[in-house]
Amino acid sequence: MNTSTSSVLSMENRIGARFEDFVQQHRIWQNPLLKACENNQLTISEFGFVIAQHFYYSRGFTRLLSALMMQCENDLHRVALSHNLWEEAGEEEQQECHSNLLRNMLGNVFGVTAPDETRFRDYTVQYFNDCLNYLKHSDIVRAAAFLGWGTEGVVPKIYSYLFNGLVNQGVAESDLLYLSLHMECDDEHSEVIEKIALDACDGDTEQHWLAIEEAIDTSLSLRDAYFTKLYEELKMAKAKSLIDLVTSDKPYADLEASGALHANVLEKQGITLYQREDEAGGVNFEVTRFKVASEVIDPRLLEIPVGKRNEKHNHAHESVFYILSGQGRVHIDEKAIDVVAGELAYVPRWYDHYTVNTGSEPLRILALTDYGFTRCFPKNSESSYRNKPENLGHQVIG
Ligand SMILES: [Fe+2]
Ligand SMILES: [Fe+2]
Repeated sequence: MNTSTSSVLSMENRIGARFEDFVQQHRIWQNPLLKACENNQLTISEFGFVIAQHFYYSRGFTRLLSALMMQCENDLHRVALSHNLWEEAGEEEQQECHSNLLRNMLGNVFGVTAPDETRFRDYTVQYFNDCLNYLKHSDIVRAAAFLGWGTEGVVPKIYSYLFNGLVNQGVAESDLLYLSLHMECDDEHSEVIEKIALDACDGDTEQHWLAIEEAIDTSLSLRDAYFTKLYEELKMAKAKSLIDLVTSDKPYADLEASGALHANVLEKQGITLYQREDEAGGVNFEVTRFKVASEVIDPRLLEIPVGKRNEKHNHAHESVFYILSGQGRVHIDEKAIDVVAGELAYVPRWYDHYTVNTGSEPLRILALTDYGFTRCFPKNSESSYRNKPENLGHQVIG
């Protein structure tokens, strides 16, 4: 490395800040996997899947560092990188090497006792190989920028999404040493690598800075695409068990064991799913769920007293309303549909809707929904759209 005069250091800090901003503005921070961590939408086993896949990368990380080292013509750069490698290797304690810390965490927190036997997805292997190939085939400035700002530099922030999400799920911080250690030490690791990039730039030229930004963008974009693939797989995993049942061509193995096959609707042989009374908004209604053994169809009774309405809301499931008794007006977006006993109304997914009892007797509606399907996906739990003041609305009734 250059002899570190103070003017060189201040140049490095000034230029380095430019790339920090570039990283912060990257679209990776809008990735749906990170958003799902942030919004507490992942279960422990879903975190387990993500981190078990990440083990492939973690286990291979010293290969990435070595690839960068191979690109360094300057022996002092290699010396600096060997310090990073030494820390990755657990220094004196080989058992403490970072990949082993992750092995321990996978076992203790997720019950993954043989992480090396994980069925790593093709896209997981591809992501790692893409990183390795980039480092092997790029010049030292680009390779160091890729691994510095683009990889090691974002580890503390990315791991904090996982760390906070798991702590919110009740996992003890002491069980997350692999994550917390990297949240602390990877800033230093990235600084070493970033200095190599700047030092190798050989002059303060715009061309170099653009090369660095290009390398950072490549690194973050690869990771962004990888995270999206993980998220897509999580999203499809629950729906897959339903698809397997649909395509199995077999009825229930044991009809007796399948659960309830019958419920009386008007006697409300079910559980109260939701109840709300808010005189100010004219809101007064009750929803009962009938727990028959259905997988997808989720039948409910909606009851609204005379002159009252339910709250305006929307959700992922679609609903077919069958009017059992009374008369009412179903509002869907800007449309209003008048209904009486014996009629059907259909409410498509995600449209704002509410129903008003416009008759002189209680309005009873059997709502057949496909909630059993939509609840497979993140964001679609009962609590995600109910009980929110903003869902009450204050339209004039009638
Ligand atoms: Fe590490
Ligand atoms: Fe609804």
